[in-house]
Amino acid sequence: MSAPAAAPALDLAAFPPGFSWGTATSAYQIEGAVAADGRGPSIWDTFSRTPGAVAGGDHGDTACDHYHRWPEDIALMRRLGTDAYRFSIAWPRILPTGDGPLNEAGLDFYDRLVDGLLEAGITPSATLYHWDLPQALQDRGGWATRGTAEHFAVYAGTVAARLGDRVTQWATLNEPLCSAWIGHLEGLMAPGLTDLATAVRASYHLLLGHGLAARAIRAVAPAARIGLVTNHSTVTPASDRPEDVAAAARMDGHTNRWWLDPVYGRGFPADMREVYRVDLPERPTDAAVLATPLDWHGVNYYFPVTVADDPGGPVPHAHEVRLPGVPRTAMDWAVDPAGLESVLLRLTEEYGARCLYVTENGSAFDDRPGPDGTVDDPERAAYLEAHIAACARAIRKGAPLAGYYAWSLLDNFEWAYGYAKRFGLVHVDYATQRRTPKSSGLRYADLIRRHRAQAG
Ligand code: FCB
Repeated sequence: MSAPAAAPALDLAAFPPGFSWGTATSAYQIEGAVAADGRGPSIWDTFSRTPGAVAGGDHGDTACDHYHRWPEDIALMRRLGTDAYRFSIAWPRILPTGDGPLNEAGLDFYDRLVDGLLEAGITPSATLYHWDLPQALQDRGGWATRGTAEHFAVYAGTVAARLGDRVTQWATLNEPLCSAWIGHLEGLMAPGLTDLATAVRASYHLLLGHGLAARAIRAVAPAARIGLVTNHSTVTPASDRPEDVAAAARMDGHTNRWWLDPVYGRGFPADMREVYRVDLPERPTDAAVLATPLDWHGVNYYFPVTVADDPGGPVPHAHEVRLPGVPRTAMDWAVDPAGLESVLLRLTEEYGARCLYVTENGSAFDDRPGPDGTVDDPERAAYLEAHIAACARAIRKGAPLAGYYAWSLLDNFEWAYGYAKRFGLVHVDYATQRRTPKSSGLRYADLIRRHRAQAG
């Protein structure tokens, strides 16, 4: 199948030469092989076995079998022509009980993967925590305890000591918001808790763990460029009623400022401390650790939110309002490329971020392979191009954007939604593990080729 013609509006000249075009995945969502070579159980192994927790009773036992098929997956990246690959390292493969003995076989897997990527001319970008906490640490309190943040730093230093001669691009955490709020407050992700005080403590220890890990990586790998990956949404009040405007400010605090202010040296937002009313487990030297300077900031962007006041509802006492006429993906997420532009400009102008990556952006749609086996997904291709166009606009307005990673290389285990939701540029037939690039993937490849030709 040939790639469809690209929309003429895309301002590819905005992207500087050397701009990094990539794809992203995470360990539990693609690797499978959950018991191979000494891997210990993670909170997602436990959560996905909890009745009713994951759609269809799905789990990551096999997923995309990437643990065994990674050479084929690198070949797919080459076919797409991507420059970089963002993947995550499974903590329970490296330290099966979180802080116990080192499992060399787990490190060996990532060693091979990194070498394979480098041989293929693809820059590895490693994320150290994409939600798969060793279950043994959860059994001792997980992110609600300071010990987990400290163990995370030891794990990060251990991995960087082994791979830091070849991997320079490191992210500590992926989307701590989801770990804390969805995992500990809403109960919809592992570890499936629903307690505000526990969630707020977890949020604190996640960011503390980020800062401690950044320092531990720098100590063993001085060439490392260290980032944090956070997810953001633009937040708009559903009306100009003062109650809705205040609700939007709370939702913005909950979604955006709580995760950015302490990292950029402003401390936790005072208004949100009032909303949560939970004492933070602060120690005097922590604020500086949380604000350890970043070499880059990774933005994951999927959707905007519009909210109304909800005084009786859960924290932050604001509920989402569905605006009519807004297109939505199969996740029921509103589509708004301008939101990505706003988020990038906010990081630049309000927080002073000096180097940004879009570390995730993508869409789920109900793909159906045609009779000839090809997968035509025009909606995903349109989403991708519209969001890349938003990146171009943000760059033109001054955002220091260095790369864009499409979520995701492959269809994969979409957490509580199981395998029902497909985000891949490459289709995966889970029964046969056959991979088929979708038309959106071919379109992305074409865009990358054109940018390279143009940028010289
Ligand atoms: C993000 C996650 C990623 C994937 C996408 C769709 O929140 O980081 O693992 O599930 O959403």
